[in-house]
Amino acid sequence: MLPTTVAPRSRTRTLAQQANRHEYYERSVQTPDVDAQFLDRTFRRLRRRRAHVLREDFCGTAALCAEWVKRHREHRAYGIDLCEKTLNYGIQQHLVPLGERAARVHLLRCDVRQPVDFRADIACAFNFSYFAFKQRHVLLDYFRAVRDSLADDGVFFLDIFGGPESMDLREERTEHDEFTYVWDQDQFNPITHEMRCYIHFEFPDGSALRRAFRYEWRLWQIPEIEDIVREAGYRDFIVYWEGTDADGDGNGVFRPSRKGDDAEAFIAYLVCVK
Ligand SMILES: C[S@@+](CC[C@H](N)C(=O)[O-])C[C@H]1O[C@@H](n2cnc3c(N)ncnc32)[C@H](O)[C@@H]1O
Repeated sequence: MLPTTVAPRSRTRTLAQQANRHEYYERSVQTPDVDAQFLDRTFRRLRRRRAHVLREDFCGTAALCAEWVKRHREHRAYGIDLCEKTLNYGIQQHLVPLGERAARVHLLRCDVRQPVDFRADIACAFNFSYFAFKQRHVLLDYFRAVRDSLADDGVFFLDIFGGPESMDLREERTEHDEFTYVWDQDQFNPITHEMRCYIHFEFPDGSALRRAFRYEWRLWQIPEIEDIVREAGYRDFIVYWEGTDADGDGNGVFRPSRKGDDAEAFIAYLVCVK
């Protein structure tokens, strides 16, 4: 669905009318430098070597691909996404500024389940994008396709969110300097675990970019994902659980664990070892 703008009456263009939804998405939910560092370090710890080739699935604007090639001159990245417009925005915003280093980024406009002609050390699917695959056999096919594209000692990283709050119908607002990010859990079906979520952006002039992004997902649970990952042929499945600070809030440090805590809401990394 196309985003709708809610604008107060005025002759000048509102902040919402001037906004590019990808820019505000990135500022709200992405930290490609943090992700690239986590991928790099975790791979090195698991495999005792440096990863060179990254496969970023559902790459959107390919911000992580760009960050990956900046980290090391031998790094290469393949970004895969279906949406040409989003990829083009990424080329302008992230690849053009890379200069010569952009030659080490390859963007593929195709379905992430399609076979590819490269081998990756690391594959990743972040911001829960694989939740779009609602049927078990479809997710299994996808995990197998990724495994086939990995080097013999390759590692596949997913993220996941959960906890009781993930099933509530709620709007969560995060204030930024120039806008407010709104995560809207609009519908949830406890029988199928299908959910509908939106992202809205609100601006200080009272304008808003409502439904800038819409997600039709299945809220998968960690044990379900582990079963499918193992069936897809991965040798190991490691959950990286976030630690907590003195107030019990997440501290941004993720460590391997087989015992989580009773967080109302959590985000975890799922690491699938080929
Ligand atoms: C939620 S965005 C994820 C962006 C980015 N990965 C992130 O971490 O924020 C989902 C992206 O997945 C793409 N997409 C959805 N289904 C896909 C598929 N089957 N194959 C490839 N890309 C797909 C959409 O075009 C969209 O850009």
